[in-house]
Amino acid sequence: MKIFFLGMMGSGKTYWAERLKKKLKIPAYDLDELIEMMEEKTVAEIFEEDGEEYFRKAEAKMLRLFAEKKTFILSCGGGTACYNDNMNWMNKQGITIWLDAPVETLAERLSKEKFKRPLIKTLSDLSLKDFLNKKLEEREAFYNRAAYRLSEEDLNENAFSKILKEYA
Ligand code: S3P
Repeated sequence: MKIFFLGMMGSGKTYWAERLKKKLKIPAYDLDELIEMMEEKTVAEIFEEDGEEYFRKAEAKMLRLFAEKKTFILSCGGGTACYNDNMNWMNKQGITIWLDAPVETLAERLSKEKFKRPLIKTLSDLSLKDFLNKKLEEREAFYNRAAYRLSEEDLNENAFSKILKEYA
């Protein structure tokens, strides 16, 4: 079973991947972390030194390596679904789940850890909200192609179990 978690930065992809990994006893990976290991730099450094386009290529390349793996939860980056035909690829490979948290929640969570995220690190809290609204609007068409969408109120272990039962 291949499970891909999609959604905006701050939507809880990594948190839920870690929780489900324990419950389902299957490995969980974080795409950003793997890219950082491959490039031996943080995501912020890659954006700064090599540019976003380079990062997107590395991201697509790392994602494709999951063709070889059979069972996992992969926590993708916020932009993964939106570049290099990644959404189609993931939908062919396994189950895509969009963690759809409201912008208010995203902004609150992200305001404390902006420095890790190159796209928002220079924004004030007010511009952060504007930025997130705009990004979500641009990205919604991609996220909407996920097989499942879980809104904040539906985000609990039971919701995931229900989805996964359909594939058991
Ligand atoms: C990005 C989200 C980040 C990371 C990079 C770009 C985006 O991942 O991939 O900073 O374009 O939304 P998280 O969603 O894990 O923060």
